[in-house]
Amino acid sequence: MEPEDHGQTGTLEADPDRGRLDGFEAAGGGAWSEACVAGRSYPVLAGEFWTARQRQASNLHEVSYRACYKPQLPRLFIQQLTRPGDPVYDPFGGRGTTAVEAALLGRRVLSNDINPLSRILAEPRLTLPEPEAVAARLAEIPLGGATDDGLDLGMFYHPDTDQELRALRAWLLERSRAGLEDSLDRWVRMVATNRLTGHSPGFFSVYTLPPNQAASARRQAMINQKRGQLPPYRDTRALILKKTRQLLKGLTVGERRNLDEAAASARFFTGDARSAPGIPDGSVALTVTSPPFLDVVQYASDNWLRCWFNGLDAGAVGAGITMARTLPDWAAVMRDVFGDLFRIARPGGHVAFEVGDVRGGALSLDHAVLRAGVAAGFKGLGILVNQQVFTKTSHIWGIDNQAKGTNTNRVVLFRKP
Ligand SMILES: C[S@@+](CC[C@H](N)C(=O)[O-])C[C@H]1O[C@@H](n2cnc3c(N)ncnc32)[C@H](O)[C@@H]1O
Repeated sequence: MEPEDHGQTGTLEADPDRGRLDGFEAAGGGAWSEACVAGRSYPVLAGEFWTARQRQASNLHEVSYRACYKPQLPRLFIQQLTRPGDPVYDPFGGRGTTAVEAALLGRRVLSNDINPLSRILAEPRLTLPEPEAVAARLAEIPLGGATDDGLDLGMFYHPDTDQELRALRAWLLERSRAGLEDSLDRWVRMVATNRLTGHSPGFFSVYTLPPNQAASARRQAMINQKRGQLPPYRDTRALILKKTRQLLKGLTVGERRNLDEAAASARFFTGDARSAPGIPDGSVALTVTSPPFLDVVQYASDNWLRCWFNGLDAGAVGAGITMARTLPDWAAVMRDVFGDLFRIARPGGHVAFEVGDVRGGALSLDHAVLRAGVAAGFKGLGILVNQQVFTKTSHIWGIDNQAKGTNTNRVVLFRKP
């Protein structure tokens, strides 16, 4: 566990940046305290910022991904710290929660993730299709006669579903290879990737782990045996269409307009968060992000089926993902990340860097993040602690919160002087 720093205590009232956190008090803050890190004192504001108090998030976010955060989190910072048209960046984009929320709010979108699945899941949700156009495209795709690539997926899929899925996969890969892929193909690919496995009849597979966590073939065979189940037929076209309608439900005319505008200038990168050469110096108004937390989530093995469907090498994808096992290793990566975030931030721009509690709450990463940000040149404004009380068992960030009954997210806030 990281040692506490006990240095001199600053006078919060005299700090002109205190006003920044005061703005968050009205958004759900409750209790003020202080954190002493590297001889400086920072304000800490605890409350329930992005849970019950805020309105429902858009259905467009309903794409599952390991360790994704709630859309209300980026929304809070985007609304408090940026104006329409400002560029908002996420270096660890995941399913694209920051990107989609920024687009819905009329901000410019910059997103990166070392996992190519991130772009596959995020980018299509800025260019929305009409359901009728998706139905027409699906009707065009021949869903029979796919050749077997030797990978046995019989423990997940009914033979007819398996056949449809392989045909869809082959068709999408060929469109991409031939340079013919369009926004409808990308939408179908995104939805199908999201429907591959799950625990309800809304997914292509028989009952299995939640959709963001593919079981291995061996484990699935065991699940089937234990539950006495065989994969039932699932109509892939019907399920893609159903999910399409769900994702598009409830969008306002204004949100659709904002998405269209954001799509025109959005940039999605697939690279290491330590260096985003495609983003110019001094250009970003706000970075909102959540990094991989030590070794909590196994992104590579969780994504093996999604990688297969998209023709990606899961091993190669996994190799690039930061899996620091110790706090010093993790902090060293974050120092480099902050170096690049400082380069691209515009003067007066902000960074909201979210970390959860890891190892059952025994380790808080917020102080390490404060040090890394300040070392890069940012001014540390303080820490917002969102506390959510659970009434039932919940697995978030791969940690079982049942014992504690709470889930805590900490967001360290910085400003570029
Ligand atoms: C906690 S998740 C972010 C989830 C995201 N906030 C969302 O709502 O979906 C961390 C992400 O960091 C990515 N990642 C891990 N190491 C990386 C690196 N070195 N550079 C860029 N992305 C990385 C993982 O692929 C994963 O998508």
